[in-house]
Amino acid sequence: MEKTILVTGGLGYIGSHTVLTLINAGYKPIIVDNLCNSQPWILTQLEKLSGQKIKNHAIDCTNFSDLEAVFKNEPIHGVIHFAALKAVNESVHEPLSYYNNNVKSLLNIIELVSKYKVRKLVFSSSCTVYGTADKLPISEDHPIKTAESPYGSTKQMCERIINDCLKAKKIENAVILRYFNPIGAHSSGLIGELPLGIPNNLAPYIMQTAAGIRSSLTIYGNNYNTHDGTCIRDYIHVMDLAEAHVKSIEVMEVSATSHTLNIGTGKGNSVLDVINAFENATGIKLNYTYGERRIGDIEKIYADTNLSEEILKWKSKHSLEEAMRDSWKWQMYLKSK
Ligand code: NAD
Ligand code: WQD
Repeated sequence: MEKTILVTGGLGYIGSHTVLTLINAGYKPIIVDNLCNSQPWILTQLEKLSGQKIKNHAIDCTNFSDLEAVFKNEPIHGVIHFAALKAVNESVHEPLSYYNNNVKSLLNIIELVSKYKVRKLVFSSSCTVYGTADKLPISEDHPIKTAESPYGSTKQMCERIINDCLKAKKIENAVILRYFNPIGAHSSGLIGELPLGIPNNLAPYIMQTAAGIRSSLTIYGNNYNTHDGTCIRDYIHVMDLAEAHVKSIEVMEVSATSHTLNIGTGKGNSVLDVINAFENATGIKLNYTYGERRIGDIEKIYADTNLSEEILKWKSKHSLEEAMRDSWKWQMYLKSK
């Protein structure tokens, strides 16, 4: 029988791609998503792509009794917990919503994982927990500094809560994944990122500019100490990221084990590298100008992926150009809808 994996936030950007990857690996995902940052038609897209019915429980993970009903009624084998609010800037203005949503959801998940003896938990963390790197590529044992935003702080707190509960044996196994910068979309172009309003992140801003929704991209600073003066990040294709979640579940199938792992490509690319990749992949010239540095941006960060590659037997496969091509397909699909 297929093993059931509860995917919270499964209608969101990374969650939706992971749902498909789980199905391809022979698991049965069921989703809990309150749709606060997604739309119901994403479920239809997932059903179209997978050729099967998928269940979404449109409930809020902060509501313990609603969430418990799912654990009571489904034979849950593992949980992948994506559900969270994720806008760094918004978190500065709405800290209570962020602490309430992100921390409370995790507390409920842990309590239920413990009560229903679910032995596999994967948690979405972020490279934002590191802040500025003392050394690059950055490895998992790098010191965690004071978070620069309430959002970052929720991820640090959630990691701490998971580690404390592991130590106290309230939960058996967990894999914490620290994602670097997710980009791209499913190669069909039928699912992808759905930014609300004006995008803060680079890739959706590039797509909306090329599609004529925004007039021009502002590059935040070109006087950094990097090969072309623009900031460097580790951009990882969302399908590679999705694969890392399935590998995390598989690792916990074969041994009782817990890990905190970087999920990136191990390569640093600048903002201009991303724009070049977009132009090469699509043949479209992008309108952009240089602007002031964005407050809070760090100059460069990219992952040391040795540990994740060793533990998960996984490596990112997709190039920056493939990610740009796939995001563009998705943008074109949105335009045609
Ligand atoms: P997303 O907003 O696209 O997806 C999150 C989904 O969770 C949404 O569909 C939303 O409706 C749902 N959700 C939020 N709060 C909920 C709640 N209380 N109950 C039920 N559903 C809820 O975000 P994403 O980019 O797919 O991110 C997924 C996870 O990865 C998040 O935890 C995020 O913090 C983390 N992360 C994202 C990035 C990134 O750049 N996208 C980077 C690092 C880490
Ligand atoms: C990437 C680069 C910008 C927009 C954020 C969160 C982090 C994680 C991933 C969740 C930077 C530049 C951007 C634009 C630009 N999310 N840029 N013009 O800031 O690395 O990380 O998303 O955990 O926590 O902070 O990603 O996509 O916003 O920026 O020049 O209009 O693109 O300055 O160098 P960031 P980003």
